[in-house]
This record gives sequence, structure tokens and C-alpha cells, in this order.
Amino acid sequence: MNIILLGPPGAGKGTQARHLVDTRGMLQLSTGDMLRDAKSSGTEMGKKVAAIMDAGKLVTDEIVIGLIEEKLSAESGAGFIFDGFPRTLAQADALSALLAKLGQSLHTVIEMRVDDDALVKRITGRFTCGDCGEVYHDETKPTAEDGKCDNCGSTNMVRRADDNEDSLRTRLMEYYKKTSPLIGYYYAKGDLRPVNGLADITEVQKSIEAILG
Ligand code: AP5
Ligand code: MG
Repeated sequence: MNIILLGPPGAGKGTQARHLVDTRGMLQLSTGDMLRDAKSSGTEMGKKVAAIMDAGKLVTDEIVIGLIEEKLSAESGAGFIFDGFPRTLAQADALSALLAKLGQSLHTVIEMRVDDDALVKRITGRFTCGDCGEVYHDETKPTAEDGKCDNCGSTNMVRRADDNEDSLRTRLMEYYKKTSPLIGYYYAKGDLRPVNGLADITEVQKSIEAILG
């Protein structure tokens, strides 16, 4: 079962994807994580995208489609979770072509609905374990022990360079201009299932479980 988690920055895509990886053994494909890895390992592509990402603009379709193409294979186990991809109509068309080539298809597109005020709070309070990638929040999901990851015990906590109000404003505009048309695109195909992303993390998990069955 291949699914897309679609929603604005801070909607909870990464948080819910990790839960589905843990409970169902699905594979998370986050283009944001792949681009951040390229940026921190200093590859040519990473250097090219660093300033674009920090400013909150979208990276070119060509780059992100190439990243997804590298990771997709017939060996999807319990299925792929596309987190932060596709983000443009061109990416959506490329994804259906790539899946068709592998004899696979898309099961559901989960639209995570959250209003802008909540997104600002989520983004400005987020931190992540730099070792295992667990996602936290200063208020809604703090670590049990100050500065120490509940999942792996690391004290290497990081905040993203684009998690500031200026970049977030640009990220939101990019979302409304270029990504939100995908809501209509997948609705027309009959694949779209909205969830209330404003609910507690565990409530959102339950809504997604109910949709996936
Ligand atoms: P990406 O990494 O995909 O960032 P994003 O879409 O802006 O989304 P976020 O990762 O910020 O939010 P999320 O929805 O995963 O929320 P999270 O679960 O962390 O992309 C970054 C950049 O890379 C882009 O700006 C662009 O430059 C580039 N890029 C990536 N993909 C691209 C593509 N396909 N095309 C072109 N460019 C691309 O949760 C956020 C916070 O809220 C956390 O602190 C969490 O603990 C908390 N939280 C989560 N759920 C809840 C809840 N229900 N209640 C309360 N708090 C919650
Ligand atoms: Mg994310």
C-alpha cells in the first residue's frame, strides 16, 4: 500500500510517517530529509540546494524526482509513505509514471489539515534528534529527560535552519501556490482522504489508521 502524506509545513507529516514505519513496517520517503542529508554531507547537489531550502523555496522538480526515482523499487515491503513529495503537479505526474513502471499504484492521499496559526507554533517549537531523527516539540512533545532523545538516548538535538518565521512565511506561500493544487488533483482521482491535523498526535494516528484499515 503506497500512500502520500500531503499537508503544509508543520502539518505533522514526518511525525505520522515515523509512526507508520514503526507500526506497519512501511518505508518513509521524505524528500526534505534526503535534501537535508545531501546538504549536510556537502555533495554538489547539497551545495546547490542549501540556500533555496534555507529560504523556504521549492527545489527544482528535476532534482526531487531524481531523488525519488533512486529510492523507488519493486521491493517496497509494506509500501511507501511519500512525505513531502509530490509538491507540484509535475511531481505528481512523475510519481504516477514511476509507480506504473514498477507495476504499482497509489492507495490513498492523506490530506493533513491544519490552520496557519498552529503551524507557526509547531514550526518554531520543533527540534529533532540529530542521530535517529525522532521529532519533538518544546510544548506538545518534549523529551522525557531534558535534551536527551527518548528513542535512542542521544543528546544531539538539532533545530532546522528553515524553522524561523521568515522562511516559514515563504514555505507557506510555496505550499498554497504550488502544492495545494494537488488537493484538487487527487480529489478528482478519488484518492483524497482528509484528516483533522489539529487534533493530538495520537488522535491523528487513529484517524489515519481508520482510513488505512
Ligand atoms: P520538508 O522537510 O518536507 O518540510 P515541510 O514540508 O516544510 O514540512 P515539515 O517537515 O516542516 O513539517 P511536517 O509536516 O513533517 O511536520 P512534523 O511532523 O515535523 O521540506 C523542507 C524543504 O525541502 C522545502 O521547503 C523545500 O525547500 C525542500 N523540498 C522538500 N521536498 C521537496 C519537493 N518535493 N519539491 C521541492 N522542494 C522540496 O511536525 C512539526 C512539529 O509539530 C513537530 O515539533 C511535532 O512534534 C509537532 N506536531 C506534529 N503533529 C502534531 C500534533 N498533532 N499536535 C501537536 N504538535 C504536533
Ligand atoms: Mg517533515
